[in-house]
Amino acid sequence: MNDIEIFLDETAIKKRVKELGRKIDLAYADLNPVVVIVLKGSFVFASDLVRTLGTPLEIEFIRCRSYGSETTSSGVVEITMDLNMSIKSRHVLLVEDIVDTGLTARYLINHLLLKNPLSLKVCSFLHKPAKTVEDVKIDFCGFEAPDRFLIGYGLDFDEKYRELPFIGFLPPDDGEQKES
Ligand code: IMP
Repeated sequence: MNDIEIFLDETAIKKRVKELGRKIDLAYADLNPVVVIVLKGSFVFASDLVRTLGTPLEIEFIRCRSYGSETTSSGVVEITMDLNMSIKSRHVLLVEDIVDTGLTARYLINHLLLKNPLSLKVCSFLHKPAKTVEDVKIDFCGFEAPDRFLIGYGLDFDEKYRELPFIGFLPPDDGEQKES
């Protein structure tokens, strides 16, 4: 683990999650939102985030698979686990780990809008603007990230590294050369 270059350490992550929580609390006071957590990547961020919130809320999970190479998204998305509860006429906050091309977020937004929520906002811990092709409005964004493959704090490479308490750059000998 020593050779992983750190992008965001635990202290920086904790501080920013708290700040995001404050903003979300203000936006959703008394609205009883449904927080939709996108599996698997955002489970760590979302569990930290919801514990900073004071506003009453409900939690739902959605799981999707985005096809592509190991480090790039093709934009072909499949929902492998949909919501269980109705979000019709509810205020919904979609919680993402990272918006890279934005294709996954766009797909999920369109999917959730078909369920007629009263409002839909997006919170993403990270945004990589360099690769973004879809115009996705991120209402609550943790950090802008450079155009490199990130691991840790829920983010994986080939299902590895999700458990790291920090966000780091994928070591070059572990697949970054696959990105083109
Ligand atoms: P997008 O469709 O390109 O915006 O990204 C879709 C998904 O790819 C994200 O929700 C992540 O699960 C994954 N992803 C994108 N960039 C990274 C990264 O740097 N590290 C780990 N996963 C990533």
